Amino acid sequence: MQIIKEKAALREVISKLKSEDSRIGFVPTMGALHNGHLSLVRQAATDCDVVVVSIFINPTQFDNTTDLDNYPRTLDSDVKKLEELDLNLIIFTPTAIELYNKQIVSEHFQFDGLEYEMEGKFRNGHFDGVGTVVKKLFEIVQPDKAFFGEKDFQQLQIIKTLVKRYQLGVEVIGCPIYRENNGLARSSRNERLTPKIRLEASFIHETLLKVKDKFGTESANQIAIWVENEFKAHPYFKLEYFEIADSETLKPITTEIGDKKFRAFIAVYSEDIRLIDNIALNY
Ligand code: PAJ
Repeated sequence: MQIIKEKAALREVISKLKSEDSRIGFVPTMGALHNGHLSLVRQAATDCDVVVVSIFINPTQFDNTTDLDNYPRTLDSDVKKLEELDLNLIIFTPTAIELYNKQIVSEHFQFDGLEYEMEGKFRNGHFDGVGTVVKKLFEIVQPDKAFFGEKDFQQLQIIKTLVKRYQLGVEVIGCPIYRENNGLARSSRNERLTPKIRLEASFIHETLLKVKDKFGTESANQIAIWVENEFKAHPYFKLEYFEIADSETLKPITTEIGDKKFRAFIAVYSEDIRLIDNIALNY
């Protein structure tokens, strides 16, 4: 396993690997690695010869500086976790100054309206920041395949659109949500929950499973009202949004279901800790 900090050094290694016909997989992360991230790395290593894992806390995707300042920085333990996987990995840890050529600002993107839905309404400029950094990283790593978690389903769809729009020639692979034993989607934010609330947080996934049961027999509107009431009655979690949306366009469901695929999306707060999750409903 190699750890590379500079763009030029990584380019050199990648060019050599490509000349040997190695297939390059890529897993971009912001570190604070947990089993959710590691499941992506394992998937990438199954599909590709070498996997580049980037660890870079991207300043432009944070809509508030406190969040950026509080983001866990755990490089040593991240490296250890990756080493323990015993796979053919390259860790890329660029600095913001080098990655951004000293201009730490976002490009502005249009992602066919995907950016205005759900997370886009609540996290100002977030997807411009994500698009900017992923485009830069793709241009440096030039992977054959890049792996993203369905945990951030909207991000996954946006990256697929980015790749098409700019013809980046990367196959984007969506990987299943890794869950804790009680069903809570794994996230670095879970560490901030008290053990009691972390257990109680199974409520989020349980609610989504019930939504899946109801889908098809109750209207989307009835289901949304039911979810709102569930959370109103809950002592620990506050609902930010719940939405049933088309998996491709992320537009809210209308009465026309046809052969479209739908997912339910949710964001909730426990005090100041924001948790998101989603589930496929009819596929
Ligand atoms: P980060 O939050 O570190 O997540 C890195 C990748 O891990 C993303 O593709 C995310 O969807 C995936 N992931 C996180 N938790 C997961 C879980 N429980 N199950 C499956 N996959 C999970 O997402 C980002 O970083 C950034 O926005 C990034 C794409 C790196 C750009 O800065």
